[in-house]
Amino acid sequence: MSAEIISGKEIAQAIRGETTERVAALKENYDFTPGLATVLVGEDPASQSYVGMKNKAAKEMGIYSRQITLEADIPEDELLGLIEGLNADPEIHGILVQLPLPKHMDESKVLLAIDPAKDVDGFHPVNVGKLSTGETEVLAPCTPAGVVEMLVRSGNDPSGKHCVIVGRSNIVGRPMGSLLLRKAPGGNATVTTCHSRTPDLGEVTRLADILIVAIGWPEMVKADMVKPGAVVIDVGVNRIDDDTRERGWRLVGDVAFDEVKDVASAITPVPGGVGPMTITMLMCNTVDAGVRQAGIQE
Ligand code: GUN
Repeated sequence: MSAEIISGKEIAQAIRGETTERVAALKENYDFTPGLATVLVGEDPASQSYVGMKNKAAKEMGIYSRQITLEADIPEDELLGLIEGLNADPEIHGILVQLPLPKHMDESKVLLAIDPAKDVDGFHPVNVGKLSTGETEVLAPCTPAGVVEMLVRSGNDPSGKHCVIVGRSNIVGRPMGSLLLRKAPGGNATVTTCHSRTPDLGEVTRLADILIVAIGWPEMVKADMVKPGAVVIDVGVNRIDDDTRERGWRLVGDVAFDEVKDVASAITPVPGGVGPMTITMLMCNTVDAGVRQAGIQE
């Protein structure tokens, strides 16, 4: 039996449609437009591409977007000054500083400078703390928030299920656990987190009703690590060499898709799985942040 494919592309498209309507209604009913500022320091091509996609998505949904690009050698104080200005700017409700930052900058200090109310990445310690203590009115990191949407919208509500997360990063694994544990829609799961130092990973992953993999290790989860009928969410995006492709590489996840799809009941592909959800959830966070800052009761 081959697993059902959970398409992030399709779910993201549906959420983008809903968000576009929500933004139009905010304009119509309250003359309010949410605004997002993206800050890119330096010229890393991957970061340039991500930031470009974020601004394009914002514009498509009717969100005001301001893209700020700074030289790689700009002093940290100047970036902190810019953030201070954005914190006070009434047109801006979400601030995203693209990571990684150049080596001479202290990432934690920069993230700490962003007003938590405008922290649409959900990386500020205040928002991390709120999420960990189970608050529901919080800006949650976009990738794990996207995974929750995919589970719920594909009919795989995590409530009452044993979710095993492979990976403990601040961007995915840890906030993923907090979201799934919350007493809230999309939560109420039993959660186990394992990682690269877990002695027998397969022994733990085989317990999962829902297995979420974000470890950054190409095709690491094999079929014998998955319980038959489990739902498998692959957050990994890895480039591997492929001589059969003209460009010489292809993208694979952290899950060996071709073999795991015969064991799982549902699985996300790479590409076209979790990837498209991240930017979409950033837009949702920007609108949520704007609505809260403007004190609008929709
Ligand atoms: N770099 C890679 N992923 C992300 C992300 O989700 N947010 C930001 N700000 N930078 C990133």
